[in-house]
Amino acid sequence: MNSDILQKPETTEIKLKILSVVGARPNFMKISAVADAIREHNEAKGAPEIASVIVHTGQHYDRRMSKLFFEDLRIPKPDYNLEVGSLSHARQTAEIMKRIEPVLIRESPDFVLVVGDVNSTVASALVAKKMGIRVVHVEAGLRSFDMSMPEEINRILTDAISDMLFITEKSAEKNLMREGADAGKIFFVGNVMIDTLLKHRAKAERSPILSDLKLTGPDGAGKITPYSVLTLHRPSNVDDPIRLGEIMNAIADISSRLEVVFPVHPRTAGKLQETNFHPVRGIRMIDPLGYLDFLKLMIEAKFVLTDSGGIQEETTALGVPCLTLRENTERPVTISEGTNRLVGLDNKKIIAAAEDILDRGAGRRGIPELWDGKAALRIVESISSFFLNASAGKHKES
Ligand code: UD1
Repeated sequence: MNSDILQKPETTEIKLKILSVVGARPNFMKISAVADAIREHNEAKGAPEIASVIVHTGQHYDRRMSKLFFEDLRIPKPDYNLEVGSLSHARQTAEIMKRIEPVLIRESPDFVLVVGDVNSTVASALVAKKMGIRVVHVEAGLRSFDMSMPEEINRILTDAISDMLFITEKSAEKNLMREGADAGKIFFVGNVMIDTLLKHRAKAERSPILSDLKLTGPDGAGKITPYSVLTLHRPSNVDDPIRLGEIMNAIADISSRLEVVFPVHPRTAGKLQETNFHPVRGIRMIDPLGYLDFLKLMIEAKFVLTDSGGIQEETTALGVPCLTLRENTERPVTISEGTNRLVGLDNKKIIAAAEDILDRGAGRRGIPELWDGKAALRIVESISSFFLNASAGKHKES
């Protein structure tokens, strides 16, 4: 376990300490926005009021799944890396719990902030709560109502023990209230993932990825060859070789109309070997990309095919059509207001939806409420006032 000691700012100025946990790829863009907002808060106050500690659980560890995101997004180097790596769900969750406990004892933060729905989220929330540390969940209340998804279990359990629930869309409030959450704990603040997207969009526009993939001329000059983007990693889509092979057959069909660029997740890369699918010319299988390159790829795509949660939101913010290869989504606002369409697992439906976009185009739709680049600032200010109120209450009582 790497336990670099945190460079602590002057203790006299510090009012509260937030320990943020990251583990898997979709966590990094969320924590990037929170770390920036803490820095901006301290700059505005002219003093390091909030101390920030970052713990990386090591759930994702490949350079392309982790370090590249810290570099692209200039996220401060984690103060601790628990290096848990890939294990079964039970062992991975248990290892994170065992390894984060001494960190929480040593750092004694006022809040543990967790994001999203991965195993690192629920494991660290559970340890913190049992130690009497307040838990803050960013991206709370999303529900697919599909308990076969490990993420759904992680979301429900994390929300049930969180002290502050920060939500990205109104549907989350209904879900939380239905499960008995106290309304006073719920804060509608917008979407930190979109904060990061808006902040890095201009930089991403300059990424050389299109010329690297020969989808434009050198230096990005010339017309862009029309293409779509594919991502796949959900266990329900990729773990069964027959199911994965069927999806790839639908994609091969689409690739006869336009190129499909497919950055392959490591989980999927392993599983593809077991299918009867043979590479076809129109499908460009590449290694996972960094944040800026992938953002550029989405910006210029005719449409995106995905089973990811975050990409449904990013395409909505970009106004790029998204075909979601799932039967449900925990992010319904991307359908009601955004560019997302659920196409399920029926090959005919997938191909028909792709053709519909190519033939009829897809008009840009709206941006959901509060997806305005300021969600993380709202979160940091809410935590700060919650803490000041709680401290004032304590003083009154004593
Ligand atoms: C995890 C999250 C999922 C999230 C996804 C984003 C859980 C339950 N799942 O799924 O919600 O959408 O991350 O990517 O937390 N591997 C590598 N290198 C890595 C990481 C993983 O090769 O850096 C391979 C390993 O073979 C591993 C497999 O990918 O067994 C799956 O990784 P894991 O973290 O267990 O789950 P993901 O499918 O990535």
